[in-house]
Amino acid sequence: MTIKHESQKIAQNFYTFAVILFLVQIVVGIIAALQFIWPDFFILNFNTIKTLHINALIVWLLTGLMGATYYVIPEESETELWSVPLARLQFWATVVAITAVVLGYIWAGLNPQANKLVFGTLMLNEGRKYIEAPRWADNLIVISVLLFLFNCFMTVLKTKKWTGIQGVLLGGLTFLALMYIPGMFYTKSMVKDQFWWWWVVHLWVEGAWEIIAGALLAFMLMKVIGAKREVLEKWMYIEVGLVMFTGILGTGHHYYWIGTPAYWLWIGGIFSSLEPIPLLVMVWDAFRTTREARAVTNKAGLYYTVAHAIFNFVGAGLWGVIHTLPQVNRWTHGTQITTAHGHLAFYGAYVLLVMSMIYVTLPAIRGVKEFDPSRAFQAFWWMTISMIFIVLTTTGAGMVQTYMERLMGLDYVTVKASYNLWFWIVRAIFGVGFLIGVLIFVVDYFKLGKEPVRVIKAAPERA
Ligand code: HEM
Ligand code: HEM
Ligand SMILES: [Fe+2]
Repeated sequence: MTIKHESQKIAQNFYTFAVILFLVQIVVGIIAALQFIWPDFFILNFNTIKTLHINALIVWLLTGLMGATYYVIPEESETELWSVPLARLQFWATVVAITAVVLGYIWAGLNPQANKLVFGTLMLNEGRKYIEAPRWADNLIVISVLLFLFNCFMTVLKTKKWTGIQGVLLGGLTFLALMYIPGMFYTKSMVKDQFWWWWVVHLWVEGAWEIIAGALLAFMLMKVIGAKREVLEKWMYIEVGLVMFTGILGTGHHYYWIGTPAYWLWIGGIFSSLEPIPLLVMVWDAFRTTREARAVTNKAGLYYTVAHAIFNFVGAGLWGVIHTLPQVNRWTHGTQITTAHGHLAFYGAYVLLVMSMIYVTLPAIRGVKEFDPSRAFQAFWWMTISMIFIVLTTTGAGMVQTYMERLMGLDYVTVKASYNLWFWIVRAIFGVGFLIGVLIFVVDYFKLGKEPVRVIKAAPERA
């Protein structure tokens, strides 16, 4: 495995930053889990910790996807990246901006008065879940993303070689950038504010990011198994077409109870119930292609790619559809059921996507022919089994919460502090299990290709 163009190496900078933030995300996740048991645990309050946990998640996934794109575009355009210095500048600008934002959250957490209003915007934390970054940082992020897109499009224009994979990838990324804009202004009406906020949150993960996932899935299957481009691209168009058909009006599943007109109840219900279909097509696509596979050298890459397709369907599709009908959602809205789905969906769809792109492309970047995949497999099982238990415990907690709070009318805190305590204890334990998986992955990431390959050829290859 070697790279075809020297500039593809820039992907590694982005991966490294992503991997470090992943570790931070999980450590603070465990602190958040402990705060459910001991609310006063740690110097930063739960609100700050949770902000750090989910923002680190979004940011490391975005950084990872940028790295992956910098790898894919030169390969598909058959040329060097338009400008490596620009990509490097964009990388460092991203690192500096994100570090400043994170320090700002911590500062505001320690000293809430520091989060001052300047020209009508809060300087350290805007307080809108997932996109808490203050306005000055939003502007820097927009500049960084525009530079990134500009560099990618200029690369394609150099050779004018358009492929389906690269076109869909850049289309998804452009959609992603555009969908950041509705999150950049406030309105005085909470209803309108929430209405636009969901454009960012929902149309990202169930629109733009899923389109990117479709393109990267095709790329990975081509790389790992050598599947035919024409066939992969045909399926990619079907997947992406269905994602847009179901996902865009599927936004309605967030418009049930926020003060929007009642027609959203059936629009959201119908379209979002169809959302699992494209995700199932992706699973089928992965299995169909894999069946034809003969000698696969990059076993870890293949493993993660197929796992991504499966868990995208389970986490987003199944754990999404269980609470997407308004008849169900009116009882479960905003409970731990939502949290359970949020975890499994993000893990399956995007954590595993970025990890599979790392395992598919990093060996080539590091110039290794073969590597021992055992650590990659260990990391996978520690993380996946722990995640399954985290999701089962939060789903259980959510069912108890829905019943006690919404049907029996018990107080929120009473349910959280007494009836659900055991669920929190189990969640924290499996959180540590997840951390072990991430630590194995981090070690593997830094060591891959840098240690002598052990002889692993003794066992006969499985068909
Ligand atoms: C990869 C794709 C997906 C990701 C990453 C994802 C993630 C999330 C997250 C994090 C939330 C919580 C938002 C909040 O803070 O309130 C959420 C809510 C929700 N998701 Fe998804 N989701 C995905 C796909 C889906 C799909 C395909 C469906 C339906 C079939 C779905 C149905 C829902 C519903 C109904 C809610 C609202 C829950 C409530 O009312 O509290 N999601 N999703
Ligand atoms: C890659 C793995 C993970 C992903 C993708 C992830 C994602 C998320 C998301 C999207 C939320 C917001 C959900 C919502 O408010 O509905 C969240 C909250 C949270 N996460 Fe994670 N997380 C991960 C790992 C962990 C781990 C290992 C722990 C530790 C047990 C953890 C503990 C928590 C806690 C306690 C919350 C707050 C839940 C609440 O407010 O009810 N997370 N996480
Ligand atoms: Fe949604």
